[in-house]
Amino acid sequence: MKEINIFQKQFQAKDNDIIVASFPKSGTTWLKAIAFAIVNRQCFSSIHNHPLLSSNPHQLVPYIEFMYPANSHFPTTEPRLLGTHIPFPSLSKSIIDSNCKIIYICRNPFDTFISAWHFFNKVRQYCSSSALTIEEAFEMYCNGIIEFGPWWSHMLGYWKESIVRPNKILILKYEDIKENVNLYVKRVAEFLDFPFTQEEESNGVIESIIRLCSFEKMKDLEVNKSGIVYDGLENKHYFRKAEIGGWVNYFSPSMTEKLSKIMEEKLSGSGLSFKIMHS
Ligand code: A3P
Repeated sequence: MKEINIFQKQFQAKDNDIIVASFPKSGTTWLKAIAFAIVNRQCFSSIHNHPLLSSNPHQLVPYIEFMYPANSHFPTTEPRLLGTHIPFPSLSKSIIDSNCKIIYICRNPFDTFISAWHFFNKVRQYCSSSALTIEEAFEMYCNGIIEFGPWWSHMLGYWKESIVRPNKILILKYEDIKENVNLYVKRVAEFLDFPFTQEEESNGVIESIIRLCSFEKMKDLEVNKSGIVYDGLENKHYFRKAEIGGWVNYFSPSMTEKLSKIMEEKLSGSGLSFKIMHS
């Protein structure tokens, strides 16, 4: 909270900043990699020495809220690519008022929960706290108790603003990108004002970005197998299964019913919906 308060008071957005925003465990690492590869494609046209091969996406696109109060790791080149998990209404005024662009990724709440349960138990391990059982974590999740939660107000905050300011916020869903990554890489590039030329498209630039940022490629890189970006937490924990519908292996019928009802109650009428797929 202290860091977030300082961020709210001090952070000055620039009009050409690009913010990758998300609810945790929605595919942030993937979207950070895609955005970085799109924006910097002229500087690193040779894929062999690309920074994404030796740095984790969270190093290249750092979280703004974790940079305070030290404030020392802001990107020095422009446009600055920054990440955040902060809910929309709590962003610094300068982000909301400036012309900087926000790309927001969300994921169906079932898979998000399972991903978060695994991940935050790893974080708890590093903090020497005992792991939460799935039942304990689920009860909290349904009550909105989770890092940067409640998940429904997080998603709805960005969603509603994207309807009012479609040129400022682009909403992406993990499942949609998985289904048609080519389409969404192009959409993100256009939204960020870095569209691919016809020549780039014919030369396979989009496909090489997709390959570079793919789960299989990233998970296998040394930096993502053994590196550390944030205190104690190994990069490998950002790469688990990357599946859609894996939640069915964990949910009891009563959990499925409960979360379905909460989704219906919280999201109905908003226009935001998720296809709940089974693996
Ligand atoms: P699972 O835990 O379901 O496997 P975040 O990046 O927001 O922390 O989200 C992590 C989730 O995204 C994890 O999901 C992780 O495996 C998946 N993921 C990480 N990198 C990915 C990539 N390059 N492509 C697709 N999914 C990815």
